[in-house]
Amino acid sequence: MTSKQLRQKFLDFFEKRGHKIVPSSSLIPTDSSVLFTTAGMQQFKPYYLGEKSPYDSNAVSCQKCFRTSDIEEVGDNNHLTFLEMLGNFSFGGYFKEEAIKLAYDFLFKELKLSLKDVIFTVFEGDQNIPEDKESAQIWNKLGVPENKIKKCGKEDNFWGPTGEEGPCGPTTEIHFNDTEVWNLVFNEYYQDKNGKLAPLKQKGVDTGMGLERLAMVVQNKNSVYETDLFLPTINEILGTNEKAKRIITDHIKSSVFLISEDIFPSNIERGYILRRVLRRAIRYGKLLNLPKNFLIPLAQKVVEIYKDIYPEVKSQETDILTAIQNEEEKFEKTLEAGLKEYNNIFSWWDKKVAMLDKEKVGEKLTYFSIEDIKKLGRKFFDLFQNYGFPLDLSLEELKNYLKMEEIFKEEIINSFNEEFKKHQEISRVSAEQKFKGGLADDAEKTIKYHTATHLLLAALREILSPEIYQKGSNITTERLRFDFNYQQKLSEEQIKKIEELINEKIRENIAVEMIEMSKGEALKTVKISFDPLKYGDMVKVYKIDDFSIELCGGPHIQKTGELGHFRIIKEESSGAGIRRIRAILE
Ligand code: SER
Repeated sequence: MTSKQLRQKFLDFFEKRGHKIVPSSSLIPTDSSVLFTTAGMQQFKPYYLGEKSPYDSNAVSCQKCFRTSDIEEVGDNNHLTFLEMLGNFSFGGYFKEEAIKLAYDFLFKELKLSLKDVIFTVFEGDQNIPEDKESAQIWNKLGVPENKIKKCGKEDNFWGPTGEEGPCGPTTEIHFNDTEVWNLVFNEYYQDKNGKLAPLKQKGVDTGMGLERLAMVVQNKNSVYETDLFLPTINEILGTNEKAKRIITDHIKSSVFLISEDIFPSNIERGYILRRVLRRAIRYGKLLNLPKNFLIPLAQKVVEIYKDIYPEVKSQETDILTAIQNEEEKFEKTLEAGLKEYNNIFSWWDKKVAMLDKEKVGEKLTYFSIEDIKKLGRKFFDLFQNYGFPLDLSLEELKNYLKMEEIFKEEIINSFNEEFKKHQEISRVSAEQKFKGGLADDAEKTIKYHTATHLLLAALREILSPEIYQKGSNITTERLRFDFNYQQKLSEEQIKKIEELINEKIRENIAVEMIEMSKGEALKTVKISFDPLKYGDMVKVYKIDDFSIELCGGPHIQKTGELGHFRIIKEESSGAGIRRIRAILE
């Protein structure tokens, strides 16, 4: 059975049993306390808490998910950064009995899979939460022998919440040949920001099954990479290092999906994570001696595999390929030099190690002074700053060289982050925290884009025509989008000039001034894009030297230097006589 049939079979099965099919939500979640959508239940989170669901009480979906938590495992048989999560959900409808029966029927009746190599796990309980005897009994009643039901602790059989707080509860899982395939969560508790649990008023079911893993079982393969969801891509890669091939295959897929949602490589937040994933793929490509731009045909394969299911990968194909190619070229330029730098760093370590008792290196890292370790963190930051090597790549290179203890890694990360903070342009985000899916500082990011939008309008007026006005604007934490009146497509040269002018203003680190004045006075000095009646009698004017003077409610950043670097990623038509620019700060 193809994965396409399998995906549809799952949705149909649950639809027939009273579930509403809900399309996948975006990889960028509405919950701003997490960077990415990592589970199918995220879009339904409010309904578990009693908010009325537009889908009645039962839903089914196939959700795009992106997770960096397992990135170190990618390359084995079944861990991925991007995955499609099949799930059925109930908010105050059915509970354990029906959820377990539905899962059993789907796998063993509908798909007719054999019970032979299957294990079912249930929660064994702890001081605060009772053992889940009920789930074990229900499996047993369905015909699962007791010796196939295993009790596990909280790390394995308790799920949630996503983000800072939310619904959570014990789980029961279905494992095929030791691979977890389906996770059934029984949301019974609400965990608050302090980690305290309280019973939920309304109980809920949230299940999640990776389509890739299910396909592996159904298609009788040893790894997800042998299924039709990966095979066309991995087959394109020449080389014998299977792990490297798998990492590249996984990372190119997640990159395609991230870019299809308007996330572009940058040095902050989601863009930074995308950059790390892409550069990791490029680094592994280097190990395999793959030719320049090797990622492009792979990305095209990914588009080919998914275009019917997720039309955004097809409609954004040009953007996707351009972004990947740009990133590859950018990184390519510094890759060689950066790799040489590793040699320098590691030979410095080498000398240190030579002076130590070789036997003990790797176990007793206390032999290294904390200063040595901090120095390594600083060197890794230089590599990041000068050659664009993400920290996890450096840590990976180091791992090839030395066996690391966790504490040692943490110290390097801390020292890297200290350096990171010192640097204005990229000071806002602590790299490793973000990589682990920390908090997104949405407000700060959008404020930057707001100021960048003012600079853009001023630059357009200077380079294209003084008669340019804002016709639309939209800002997310990832990018700005700006519509303005102009008849022709912008030439590459014009785009370059606009970028250069804005970056010059950023480098000048000009203070952004706010002046309050009467509307009458403001109208004498400021060109306005909107109906003046929209404004009150007293207005705020934001001034960036004489370059940009705008009526605006704010808020804005203090000095243009905070913006880092401005880049236009797309210029296109947005209706007759209207052009649209998308730009990012990096
Ligand atoms: N939310 C659970 C998971 O992601 C089940 O869907 O595993």
